[in-house]
Amino acid sequence: MGISDKNRVIIFDTTLRDGEQALQQSLTAKQKLQIALCLEQLGVDVIEAGFPISSPGDLQSVREIGRTIKNSTICGLSRALDKDIDACRDALHETDHYRIHTFIATSDVHVKDKLKKGFDDVVEMAVRAVKRARNYTDDVEFSCEDAGRTPIDHLCRMVENAIKAGATTINIPDTVGYTLPYEFGSIIKTLFNRVPNIDQAVISVHCHNDLGMATANSLSAVMEGARQIECTVNGLGERAGNTSLEEVVMAMKLREQYMHGVYTNIVTENIARASQVVSGITNEPVPSHKAIVGSNAFAHSSGIHQDGVLKNKSTYEILTPQSVGFKENNMHMTARSGRHMIKAVLEKLGYRENSYNLDDVYSRFLKLADRKGQVFDYDLEALLFLSHEQEEE
Ligand code: KIV
Ligand code: ZN
Repeated sequence: MGISDKNRVIIFDTTLRDGEQALQQSLTAKQKLQIALCLEQLGVDVIEAGFPISSPGDLQSVREIGRTIKNSTICGLSRALDKDIDACRDALHETDHYRIHTFIATSDVHVKDKLKKGFDDVVEMAVRAVKRARNYTDDVEFSCEDAGRTPIDHLCRMVENAIKAGATTINIPDTVGYTLPYEFGSIIKTLFNRVPNIDQAVISVHCHNDLGMATANSLSAVMEGARQIECTVNGLGERAGNTSLEEVVMAMKLREQYMHGVYTNIVTENIARASQVVSGITNEPVPSHKAIVGSNAFAHSSGIHQDGVLKNKSTYEILTPQSVGFKENNMHMTARSGRHMIKAVLEKLGYRENSYNLDDVYSRFLKLADRKGQVFDYDLEALLFLSHEQEEE
């Protein structure tokens, strides 16, 4: 998948694995299946359904997802250990087409202090893991954990060996969200320049958001030739989260020309629903200012902005709310709203301009907004019918 079309960026969703592992309470198999169905409708290419060795419940849930989902590849995560890879196979062998994703850390601090090994041992373990996984499926992904902090010579050597061993996707994670966009893009560029067999695998990226760079780093990698992005709905994930699916997908769609014409198969009109389903099931609220899916992402509050949008939406909207599945934008009526906005709301509610005095209504609206913070349609209607005395009460 993906290698044949050089402009297609594969969307690998890890909401159910990296996203779920960040929750305070793990999800039930039923909840995970509901999310998987939603991801399938969204057009996600690969769903990382879980980490089967981690618990019998997780293994069973990956199995159920593999049995049910037909239009996305289902993937299970494993460390570079035989028992983990075998657990992935146990979970997925009934699935028509599945992926085993195996990983090992490659940065000095992880290799020495966490794994307590030398780099040569780690390469050997990776090669063995990839070969074992290839006995079970021809779709094997290998990740160099903490690639963002791995010396580039080591990274090149590991990638070359993993591809030689049979990995069909090579994933470059910025596990701790440490790199900057230019730096991360340069890592991908160097891999393309220095690894002789790089063309035999899809290059993937997996960024964390510790410095708020996950989206920018992923896009920078795509500009340098990466063709799979690992991401989660609402950016859910360890610590500050993972690359947010909705952000990278909409950025590539909107700025396609700048991004060398890359595209994804995501049905963008299903994004809002996916966001709401994931937020509801995981009990993780979406911040109102979250890009693309926050409740304020298509809301306008200041008089100047509202006036602009009433004249031409593209003054302050770079995307239509409908393109990501919201019905319409919304305008907040606050003390920052202008007369034009109040007139437009009254018109929408069915009041003709000659049936009220706009100057009067607007000055009363401002007083109310100062007192109340936000004014709603019903407040505005009440203002039309209340006398000044009643309003003071
Ligand atoms: O962040 C990371 O490095 C991971 C790997 C397991 C891909 O989640
Ligand atoms: Zn991760």
